Amino acid sequence: MLDFDSASRRAAELREQLNHHAHLYYVLDAPTLPDAEYDKLYQELQALEAAHPELLTADSPTQRVIGKVLDGFAPVRHAVPMLSIRTETDTEDTGAIAFDERVRRQLELAADAPAIEYAAELKFDGLAMNLRYENGLLVQAATRGDGETGEDVTQNVRGIGQIPLRLQGVAAPVLEVRGEVYMRRDDFEALNARQRELGEKTFVNPRNTAAGAVRQLDPEQARKKPLSFYAYGLGEVQGWAVPDTHAGLLDALAAMGLPVCEHRVVAPGAAGLVEFHQRIAGLRDSLPFDIDGVVYKVNSRALQQRLGFVTREPRWAVAHKYPAQEQLTTVEAIDVQVGRTGAITPVARLTPVFVGGTTVSNVTLHNEGEAQRKDVRIGDTVIVRRAGDVIPEIVGVVLERRPMRELPGLDLLMSQSEPLHPQYRLPAACPVCGSHVVREEGEAVARCSGGLACPAQRKEAIRHFAGRRAMDIEGLGERYIDNLVELGYVNGIADLYALTLDMLLEMKRRADERDGVTPETVQAGKVATKWAENLLEAIAASKRPPLARLLFALGVRHVGESTAKVLADWLGQLALVRRAPMPLLRVLPDIGATVAEAIVDFFAEPKNQQALDTLLAAGVQPADEHAPSARLRGSLQDTVLLAALQIPKLTELRCKQLADQGVDLRRLAAMESAGEPALAALPTEAAAALMQWLGEGAHRQELQALAALRDELLAQLPEGSGSEGRLVGKTLVLTGTLPTLSRDAAKDLIEAAGGKVSGSVSKKTHYVVAGSEAGSKLDKAQELGVPVLDEAGLQALLAGE
Ligand code: IVH
Repeated sequence: MLDFDSASRRAAELREQLNHHAHLYYVLDAPTLPDAEYDKLYQELQALEAAHPELLTADSPTQRVIGKVLDGFAPVRHAVPMLSIRTETDTEDTGAIAFDERVRRQLELAADAPAIEYAAELKFDGLAMNLRYENGLLVQAATRGDGETGEDVTQNVRGIGQIPLRLQGVAAPVLEVRGEVYMRRDDFEALNARQRELGEKTFVNPRNTAAGAVRQLDPEQARKKPLSFYAYGLGEVQGWAVPDTHAGLLDALAAMGLPVCEHRVVAPGAAGLVEFHQRIAGLRDSLPFDIDGVVYKVNSRALQQRLGFVTREPRWAVAHKYPAQEQLTTVEAIDVQVGRTGAITPVARLTPVFVGGTTVSNVTLHNEGEAQRKDVRIGDTVIVRRAGDVIPEIVGVVLERRPMRELPGLDLLMSQSEPLHPQYRLPAACPVCGSHVVREEGEAVARCSGGLACPAQRKEAIRHFAGRRAMDIEGLGERYIDNLVELGYVNGIADLYALTLDMLLEMKRRADERDGVTPETVQAGKVATKWAENLLEAIAASKRPPLARLLFALGVRHVGESTAKVLADWLGQLALVRRAPMPLLRVLPDIGATVAEAIVDFFAEPKNQQALDTLLAAGVQPADEHAPSARLRGSLQDTVLLAALQIPKLTELRCKQLADQGVDLRRLAAMESAGEPALAALPTEAAAALMQWLGEGAHRQELQALAALRDELLAQLPEGSGSEGRLVGKTLVLTGTLPTLSRDAAKDLIEAAGGKVSGSVSKKTHYVVAGSEAGSKLDKAQELGVPVLDEAGLQALLAGE
């Protein structure tokens, strides 16, 4: 064991090192020490302190985690009251201008006096905290309370890694730092994800969660909710020269190791404030934490003193708000919507409310589990949030306002009540077609089992098919689709092309009759036909779509516009897409297992085959079919196809080894035993797995079929350039302007040779092809030591030189 003196010196050294690394880690977000090293130092200090309890100091990092469950918090009388600031509710520029005018008036400045200098910062949405440092050591943390008296929450605040236990370079007898304790949005989301996993109630918003964590009596519980801190002001100070300006103060606090937000400026006059307010508004949604406005403070402390206070608010500061992202409203009903794939989604109908810049009256509850977890019920008062472009959501229910009904109680004193409405349940039957609602094991969404027999799904499928980005059938709007389906004229997409003028007019007549309306034309004894003629014309005009749009229009699960374009670009023909097996789809860019499977499943379904055949028979024909892309040649190499088969234990590298041994698809299909010499390069377990795979299902036949399809495709491909396969497995990045090749042409050449073109340089990049005015990608390549080629170098590579 170390003697006391050495132990004492070592403990001091460890404390300093650990505190320094905690600052790098928590405040500067730039750790230089691996976690394991930190833990080692930490444990060493813990051991020293255990052996010599007298070495324990208040700033020892080991004290962050220690604490006992409290009965309550002790009151703390603030030496300097914690005031609030006036809020400017005018969220426009005029709010900032009004503040500047007020300040100038109170200082009795002449109209032509120079602009006042302000310090502008963010208004953090958390809770105010007073940190008392004595002789540089954190001795107490207190909440604001009523401004005069707060609560002693030292124990929990010690657990906030960002808050230094000892100030750097300042040992003033008293220095109280004020700031905001808050929770980052990512920490909040992670916390809620964990709650969901545990099947527990989720938290409403970061602010309430932070407040709850700080006031948690059990420090263990408090530590499960990660908090952060930003310093923005001072309380009592003894023996420290306070800087002359607020900006100077913030810099000084940062230099002491306290977190100070980087979004702060010194702004001249009203114009500077307006500029800051606007700039932060644009940044608001991308900040990692919530703010509800910005704060302007007169920068000069001398001027602050001249301005003084009105009641409990300084005249020299104001909070300039942004439009609220959260509002309260009530749930009028909970309906369900049936989507194109039958997904049943509960939707809360709300009393319309203006939040985050728009009026919100419907909010999805996603699925039954989510609706129950949030426990949203009819009549509830709920908090609706809409931040930026994010879709509005209900973040929580105000339970105190839930409508209740009295229960006839036996006990006259203890009146009992229960919620007026029960917990939400999804209907057992589809509200549209009455089919069973089913929810598969492990799936969150429930689906209507009616398939295309469900009018809601049919309508959605047709709406999607006719949409502007799909077949673009102009004039086939929601109302017509509803009536065509409800009155039985259209049961699926193919029926659209069988519609006639008589059918449309009859449909209209029946719909009007059903709805009890008599159009003016009918009153005048005429029949309007123009609309129907236009609609038929639009349907006819949609018969020759680009292949990509037709594929997108079919509504194959997981096939969005970009996947549809990949299929069309690479395979070129509908017939080929229809019969492409999984491995062929998987060699196409950006198509993974899920998507490939969805495509194969779709085209294997007899109903879909029939619908497609009917479409073709009605004259629907892609206008731009072409031979498969020359780029496919590289992807049809044996190594690539082998890898795409996803045979267990057969990594890309092993596929390459097999191909090098001359094992192609047909030879593989004929393999009889794991002892074949061609398999010698593989580890035994990989060879065994391969043989097992060959024995399963129809794998051998699938290999044969794939080989046949490959040959057929190769025969159709445009003349090769001789570079086939030269770049298989290689990733290239293009940057700058090449002398003769356009970027697309270079990309085509690389892909035709089996290479991949990526947008960013990493260690995995094989070559960077750089032209003139190449930028940061070239720098990155040089930094990582990635070989750089010019256009001639690329050509040489393609030519195999
Ligand atoms: S200064 C005397 N600066 O807003 C001025 N307050 O009413 C004292 N707040 O609860 C406050 N961000 O916790 C100041 N950058 C900031 C702030 C800020 C958030 C909170 C503060 C208090 C309320 C002010």
